[in-house]
Amino acid sequence: MRDHLTVLRRTAAAGAVALAALSLTPGTAQARPADPGPGVVGGVPAQQGEFPWMVRLSMGCGGALYTQQIVLTAAHCVSGSGANTSITATAGVVDLNSSQAIKVKSTRVLQAPGYNGTGKDWALIKLAKPINLPTLKIANTTAYNNGTFTIAGWGADQEGGSQQRTLLKATVPFVDDATCQEAYGGSLTPGDEICAGYMDTGGVDTCQGDSGGPMFRKDDTGAWIEVGIVSWGEGCARPGKPGVYTEVSTFAKDIASGAASLGG
Ligand code: ARG
Repeated sequence: MRDHLTVLRRTAAAGAVALAALSLTPGTAQARPADPGPGVVGGVPAQQGEFPWMVRLSMGCGGALYTQQIVLTAAHCVSGSGANTSITATAGVVDLNSSQAIKVKSTRVLQAPGYNGTGKDWALIKLAKPINLPTLKIANTTAYNNGTFTIAGWGADQEGGSQQRTLLKATVPFVDDATCQEAYGGSLTPGDEICAGYMDTGGVDTCQGDSGGPMFRKDDTGAWIEVGIVSWGEGCARPGKPGVYTEVSTFAKDIASGAASLGG
């Protein structure tokens, strides 16, 4: 399906959840940027071990290790809450085909309570066993909701493009709520969502298959901190259409209590 329709359809309350999930399917090609290069869109390969908490989920999403046994991802990447052994998390590698890949199945999913396809786009996946890798801290204040963010994923490297075997990364600047709201004609849920991208030129963005993955930056101690979860956008990397991310700081308490309810 065409991703630009995703935005329009998101405004229809009924079926919004299912449609958001469908937007995982790489869309029909639209006018493409001249040469986006390898990407997330406009990205470059990540180094092995650079983002050790990055996880690829088998339904075609990204995620990050919140604890060694819980992955933080997007609500639209999962179908609901409860027992679920159908998801495989692949971790510990930039190359998904590597023999070193760590693969662990899910046992339970917690989709954000009250998620209805608008805002609240977060979910937790409990794994069958812990993965011995570093975890990614989440922002629990708004202090880091600004500046330059790093994005990473195995999703499409251009609008309508194919999923990637190797993890790609890029950086994108913060876009304020007023600008983002104007870009999306009010479909933004400002307190729940944070935007990033190059308004003037486009060219760098997350894209289909990056959903659920983290948008992150360094905190005052120099540690990586997750400020956003890849959620949606109109197409990918279009000028004037920034990427929209779940505002992690808004949900930090809910995420913590959700993880506690899954047994950490
Ligand atoms: N919804 C997409 C997914 O499921 C993510 C789209 C992100 N789009 C963007 N332009 N930043 O993978």
